[in-house]
Amino acid sequence: MTLQFNHLAILSAAAWLGACAPEAREPDISVERGERLYFQKCAVCHGNDATGAGVASIGLGAPPPDLTTLSAQNRGVYPRTFVMSVVDGFNRRTHPESAMPEFGNEDLGPAVQVEDGGLSTPIPSDLIALAAYLESIQR
Ligand code: HEC
Repeated sequence: MTLQFNHLAILSAAAWLGACAPEAREPDISVERGERLYFQKCAVCHGNDATGAGVASIGLGAPPPDLTTLSAQNRGVYPRTFVMSVVDGFNRRTHPESAMPEFGNEDLGPAVQVEDGGLSTPIPSDLIALAAYLESIQR
């Protein structure tokens, strides 16, 4: 009797796990993932080469900035936190009518704990991947 009950418990646990499996997503913070996301979400405005001349860049209130010179404009230091906060929408841009969408409302993947100056902060994995891709294309 007990055995049978255990069996059932295991079966239903397996069914429950199976139902959850499609939801579970492994965090992927690779440059390759960031590149794929960039071409899906950003290239239309910032351009395939990220210099700002995407097909949708014409007629925006402010032109999409060149994303390959972020380090150069920051005394050679890649501004990772700034990049992530702009994409997330947390860092509201100087233009109130900013054409730059807030991606923080979208599903940006499972969060990853990132250590920064002794603080551990959960950051969505797609944000980290996008920032890693942009870092890889700095001139
Ligand atoms: C609808 C067009 C559009 C899309 C799509 C878009 N951006 Fe932007 N982005 C802009 C514009 C316009 C600005 C500059 C104006 C502003 O500050 O809001 C900007 C600013 C930025 C900045 C700040 C750069 C600086 O030097 O201040 C970063 C970083 C950035 N975008 C990254 C991204 C990333 C990464 C994506 C994709 C996840 C993306 N953008 C998608 C239009 C867009």
